[in-house]
Amino acid sequence: MHSPVSASVPEWLVLPDDVNDLVDGVWPAAAHRAADGALVLGGIPAADLVAAYGTPLQVIDENEVRHRAAAVRSAFQQAAERAGTTARVYYAGKAFMNSAIVRWVLQEGLRVDVCTGGELEVALAAGADPALIGFHGNNKSVAELERAVEVGVGSIIIDSEIEIERLAAITAATDAVQQVLLRVNSGVHAETHDFLATAHEDQKFGVPLSDAAPLVARIREIPGLRFLGLHCHIGSQIFGVDGFRESAARVLDLHEELLAGGHVPLLNLGGGFGIAYTRVDDPTPIDQLAEGIVQAVAQGCAARGLDLPELAFEPGRYIVGPAGVTLYEVGTTKDVVLEDAVRRYVSVDGGMSDNARPALYGAQYSARLASRAGSDEPVLARVVGRHCESGDIVVDYEYLPADVTPGDLLAVPVTGAYCAPLSSNYNHVPRPPVVAVLDGTSRVIVRGETLRDLLARDTGLDVGHHPEGAR
Ligand code: LLP
Repeated sequence: MHSPVSASVPEWLVLPDDVNDLVDGVWPAAAHRAADGALVLGGIPAADLVAAYGTPLQVIDENEVRHRAAAVRSAFQQAAERAGTTARVYYAGKAFMNSAIVRWVLQEGLRVDVCTGGELEVALAAGADPALIGFHGNNKSVAELERAVEVGVGSIIIDSEIEIERLAAITAATDAVQQVLLRVNSGVHAETHDFLATAHEDQKFGVPLSDAAPLVARIREIPGLRFLGLHCHIGSQIFGVDGFRESAARVLDLHEELLAGGHVPLLNLGGGFGIAYTRVDDPTPIDQLAEGIVQAVAQGCAARGLDLPELAFEPGRYIVGPAGVTLYEVGTTKDVVLEDAVRRYVSVDGGMSDNARPALYGAQYSARLASRAGSDEPVLARVVGRHCESGDIVVDYEYLPADVTPGDLLAVPVTGAYCAPLSSNYNHVPRPPVVAVLDGTSRVIVRGETLRDLLARDTGLDVGHHPEGAR
């Protein structure tokens, strides 16, 4: 590793010793370069996947998803067992809701967290036992709540006072008994390395801690509702235990207060466990994170003389993020001369329509040549998309081999979470297919859109005149 070369390069971007390397923890464990230098994903050369399915192409490594699902489940369940309780681990489906992925995580012993009626239908259609589903959302419609109660979802996470009354009416009309949690807002907000703790967090989810006790009393009055406990989610892409510890301490004070009025068998601390997007990210390993969080709750309970409740967690990104790799074809390159550097703009055939995260959150990614290994000489590069917008960036800062050229395939790792779900048709670009790879086999788990799909929504067009399948 060398130090940064100029002011046009952020300090965190290191010049790699090998511009073709695949950094551990950023790529799926099975990703490697074949003897000829070409990238292999799930046992299949990237170029073969592209020959079969085109570009852009989102690839998901099934073994990686399963392995990560099993790892996070066992990390929390073993930590809970050591502390003398049990843990439920839900896959937060918002990270990537798809029937194949739901089936994989169910088979690995997880439950499923959904946050809309649409996600609920995918989980049900994929065969999830409704009792294993948790239903979230700050604005669930009456129809969505009716459906959730009717199918018997295991828990509904109540987000507002209004929702309590909606559920009171629905359960009264159907004689159902629905298990519920109440989402509280602990005033702790965590992002990556830091957390911010305030008396009241200024955001839409949950109810402030100070408002919760009378709402729980009201829930307990309703014959059709059974109160399970509190829910608190403090943020996403969190690297350490501190934010969870602070939040748990605050929530446990309320948990203790509520015990005076009845049972509180469960405590759900949400998800948000961080992953490495680039070589400089260093999240706490999941076993250590799980142990630290569970221990923080256990110590908090012991200090208050409370029994440790059953615990629940909702990882999304951790499970699917590093299992995804997006393949693009390079279309054009151009060098832009800056005051202190030259930046090579490498345009690919996707962009903010298949990965909105750089534009939305300033998220950083990395990229590697996929069809072949490149020359050793690195150039400072920015991988950009094909959209008519200068913020259409795929990888803001990267070193790529100097011989990167039109027709090359580029691979961007860690695109398994919050990319396909946030994708759009901006500029009438069809959304790419998603292909699952497993031990040398591949199959489409999300069909790619065609131009015909897009034109069909424009009521002023006769789609019969347009070529089917054009991408
Ligand atoms: N539980 C609740 C209640 C949540 O709101 C979320 C994420 C999760 C669990 C899962 O969090 P994860 O383990 O995946 O970090 N689109 C953003 C992330 C939004 C997260 C929303 N809630 C992004 O691309 O970074």
